[in-house]
Amino acid sequence: MDKLFQPVATGRLTLANRIVRSATFEGLCDDDGRPTKAYLDLYAALAGQHIGALLTGFAYVTPCGRAMQPGQAGIEDDAKIPLYKTMTGLVHARGGKVLMQIAHSGRQTSARAVGGWARGASSQSSAYFGVKVKALTTSEAWALAEGFATAALRCQKAGFDGVQIHAAHGYLVHQFLLPSINDRRDIFGIDRKTGIGPQFLKVIIERVRERCGHDFPLWVKISGDDQPQHGLEGAPLIHLVRFLDQMKVDAIEISCGTMERALNIFRGQTVPLDAIWRYNPKYKTASILGRLWRRYVLYPFMRPGIRLFSPMYNLAYARQAKQHTAIPIISVGGFRTGQEMSTAVERGATDMVGLSRPFISEPDLVDQLIADHGWKAKCLNCNRCAVMTDSHQPTRCYRAVDV
Ligand SMILES: Cc1cc2nc3c(=O)[nH]c(=O)nc-3n(C[C@H](O)[C@H](O)[C@H](O)COP(=O)(O)O)c2cc1C
Repeated sequence: MDKLFQPVATGRLTLANRIVRSATFEGLCDDDGRPTKAYLDLYAALAGQHIGALLTGFAYVTPCGRAMQPGQAGIEDDAKIPLYKTMTGLVHARGGKVLMQIAHSGRQTSARAVGGWARGASSQSSAYFGVKVKALTTSEAWALAEGFATAALRCQKAGFDGVQIHAAHGYLVHQFLLPSINDRRDIFGIDRKTGIGPQFLKVIIERVRERCGHDFPLWVKISGDDQPQHGLEGAPLIHLVRFLDQMKVDAIEISCGTMERALNIFRGQTVPLDAIWRYNPKYKTASILGRLWRRYVLYPFMRPGIRLFSPMYNLAYARQAKQHTAIPIISVGGFRTGQEMSTAVERGATDMVGLSRPFISEPDLVDQLIADHGWKAKCLNCNRCAVMTDSHQPTRCYRAVDV
């Protein structure tokens, strides 16, 4: 039988197959980050689709960690536990498994979302997000690591099958890891020997283990990249994988990049400029002159930095990681055919595959793959789903729909 459809153990959690739905922002919570009925319905529906495990969209662990996208979930308040408990109950009743992705946006947010200055690993602000940033003091960083652990405990009480710490895509934990951002001189600074700053993540993992016990599944998502300001590759990436190996996390998902260049994380067949000019908070404009300037001056300037879609575009990082740990690795980014997924797993390049956009357009994708190994996902990588996360509308597929 195809290894892709065989069970895989990640610590105490055994998944029925090796396909996971990677974290995908839902835009389905109210202004206070409380899950709505539509959020519960989404996960109830996905749970019946034979996906090995579901990862929720990133949920903020404290109010200062909110992202700028409207409708983000929060796990910062005990009062929300019963709501999420209803959700996990629905998922389990349909035979699904669900882990919550817990996150803090750090500098990748807006003043509106966090009510003023953002908090970061350093005071360096992000060229794209622009919000002013105050570096966390040492004691605040300790307290925030504790905040992650308290959030994980809420997830455990709410019946989640585990948590995934978001240490990728330029969010706060990733900001601590990156020498291009982390200029701290305290315990949370960059380790000279390895060239990365894992101490903040280390304290989070230790605190989560203390609060939730060693059996509570703890996954971590990280970013590779060949541009040092957006991720780690080569020796620093190997150091990070070895660090996670020592910390005995239960699974490592490897994506790429930071939200500074979001379109390199979710690579498109093309760039949906029309939707960007209309909905992106930084680039939107109603004026014709503004659009012309963006299209003919700004875009050609930015275009060389944008990477377009290619199949399995992060698999090389997974392959590299697998040489340094026996912890299950999940490769995410550009898996679109049954053949690609099966071959990547069969050849040992990755233990599992993560998919985000294909499940937005085709929730029953796993059943299609089981019925036909040659199945090709319907997702066209048009990336409207990604651009529209800024639009106050729930995440959905815009294939053939005018935005
Ligand atoms: C609409 C949308 C929302 C996303 N939300 C998250 C998120 O909340 N957390 C996260 O780690 N990645 C998020 N991602 C990135 C995906 O998990 C994944 O890493 C990326 O899309 C590449 O996988 P794919 O080619 O299967 O889409 C999101 C991607 C999209 C398109």
